[in-house]
Amino acid sequence: MREPIDNGLTVSGVSKTFMLRSGQTLKALDNINFELEKNSVGVLLGPSGCGKSTLLRMIAGLESHEEGDIAVAGTSIRGPGVDRGMVFQNYSSFPWLTVEENVAFGLKARRESLTLREGVVDHFIQAVKLGGFEKAYPHQLSGGMQQRVAIARSLVSSPSILLMDEPFGALDPETRWQMQSLLLEIVKKERTTVLMVSHDIEEALYLGDVVFFMGTRPGRILETIRPQMERSSTDRDAILDVSEYRQLEREIRQMMRSQSLVSA
Ligand SMILES: Nc1ncnc2c1ncn2[C@@H]1O[C@H](COP(=O)(O)OP(=O)(O)OP(=O)(O)O)[C@@H](O)[C@H]1O
Ligand SMILES: [Mg+2]
Repeated sequence: MREPIDNGLTVSGVSKTFMLRSGQTLKALDNINFELEKNSVGVLLGPSGCGKSTLLRMIAGLESHEEGDIAVAGTSIRGPGVDRGMVFQNYSSFPWLTVEENVAFGLKARRESLTLREGVVDHFIQAVKLGGFEKAYPHQLSGGMQQRVAIARSLVSSPSILLMDEPFGALDPETRWQMQSLLLEIVKKERTTVLMVSHDIEEALYLGDVVFFMGTRPGRILETIRPQMERSSTDRDAILDVSEYRQLEREIRQMMRSQSLVSA
């Protein structure tokens, strides 16, 4: 087994088999190995059913792994923990709490003084650009705003890694683009390590320092791609027009298509 890299994420030899009600077994993930450096953004990209959510849930400690090892910041995980923040696809704010109460909820596990806590909560409300909405309830916010509450709530306890399962999947293209830029801004400023799930090639290439392309039946990592895009939040279209980007996109689209055929 490889030594875990310091302060990042190391997944070594992880597999997952589900026992189905019929008594049959389903091998969802087979021998997953990858490393994610600290302060970088990794994207798990692949067709539906390749095990992206299962893998993310295992890293979050919400799903067990029978084989292999998952280490965050050099420590093997043994279940859920405040060292990992999780943002789900469906907006996961508590409807009965206001924005600031939702964000403060993420601090529950930390025993810090009230003044310090208020400062931290306010800092992250500002970071996700929700200043002025502290007293609003989730149903009074748009989908993008609700997802920003979830991001702030996950970041407030200073996790070693932020895990996100298709966080922007339900948003319209313009809001999605704004959220992607905001995420990059936060990652840079707060020095956060992020692992996110996406099935959108453009999103993966734009956000990822490294993209793990997964295949199906069973789910496994087929390619590790380092896009190294010149990122500028002001001119995204220019980035997407770069010929290297177009070439990479085409190659991944072909891989995606052949994998979809496998699963069909
Ligand atoms: N609790 C479970 N019990 C049995 N099978 C499961 C369970 N959870 C997931 N699976 C199976 O594992 C495989 C991977 O599912 P998973 O949800 O991880 O895929 P995904 O890559 O996230 O897909 P999508 O892009 O559609 O969200 C699928 O075949 C699914 O049916
Ligand atoms: Mg999924």
